[in-house]
Amino acid sequence: MITIYIFATILFIVIILILEISNMNTPNIAKEDVLNAFQYRHATKEFDATKTISDENMTFILKTANLSPSSFGFEPWHFIVVQDIELRELLKPVAWGAPLKLDTASHFVLGLSMKAPMTKWDSDYIMHMMKNVKQFPEDVIEMYSKFYREFQERDFSLDTDKKLFDWASKQAYIALGNMMTSAALIGIDSCPIEGFHQEKVEALLQEKFEVDTEKYGLSYMVAFGYRKAEPPHVKSRRNFDEIITWK
Ligand SMILES: Cc1cc2nc3c(=O)[nH]c(=O)nc-3n(C[C@H](O)[C@H](O)[C@H](O)COP(=O)(O)O)c2cc1C
Repeated sequence: MITIYIFATILFIVIILILEISNMNTPNIAKEDVLNAFQYRHATKEFDATKTISDENMTFILKTANLSPSSFGFEPWHFIVVQDIELRELLKPVAWGAPLKLDTASHFVLGLSMKAPMTKWDSDYIMHMMKNVKQFPEDVIEMYSKFYREFQERDFSLDTDKKLFDWASKQAYIALGNMMTSAALIGIDSCPIEGFHQEKVEALLQEKFEVDTEKYGLSYMVAFGYRKAEPPHVKSRRNFDEIITWK
């Protein structure tokens, strides 16, 4: 009798633990809170320069870039967080959309995407990803590699360096969206920035930021901080029905 009782108790505890673990892994954030964060987020033109994002919060934001999805899971991106005032100054003349943000943002991030020597199907980087990061066995590497080659050459015709860079950029923009959304969810403002001269910034990155621009190009900049004032305009968007078609 006692054995049955002990067994039932252990079973009960195990079931509760399983339920708790599965509960822990299933997000249950209120939809209103998420939509509120999307409403709250706006392209912040000027930040309150006296306010700094804590290391913990900035790490949280960057982790959502790290956890972002990417084609074949190859993560063709790198992020430089520019906190050095002198480096920020150097960016101003080549980034017309950024000066006020460079002056006032708590954190200023450069979103780099990989170029052809990194992302082409037979590159060392792709092999490193399959072998060391994903830890695929040899036969899986062979299969995956063949599939990835066909995708690049046949399905998406990624046959120029420019096309390969733009394809990597598309993925880096997913990380951008995730960073801005996760920031908004914890009350942090942001501004995405494409207002820069790509060639000039890349020359600067090569010269002053120790970036190998054979391997990486700049897709975007993004500033994070706390708004100096409320947005000057009410958020405007096309009608929901205009952008969605149900079939
Ligand atoms: C890819 C991208 C590039 C952008 N570049 C700039 C920029 O250089 N400077 C700027 O002030 N805003 C920039 N914006 C912000 C947009 O102007 C803004 O997101 C848009 O007008 C919608 O307003 P909202 O984000 O406040 O809702 C950019 C937005 C995106 C998505």
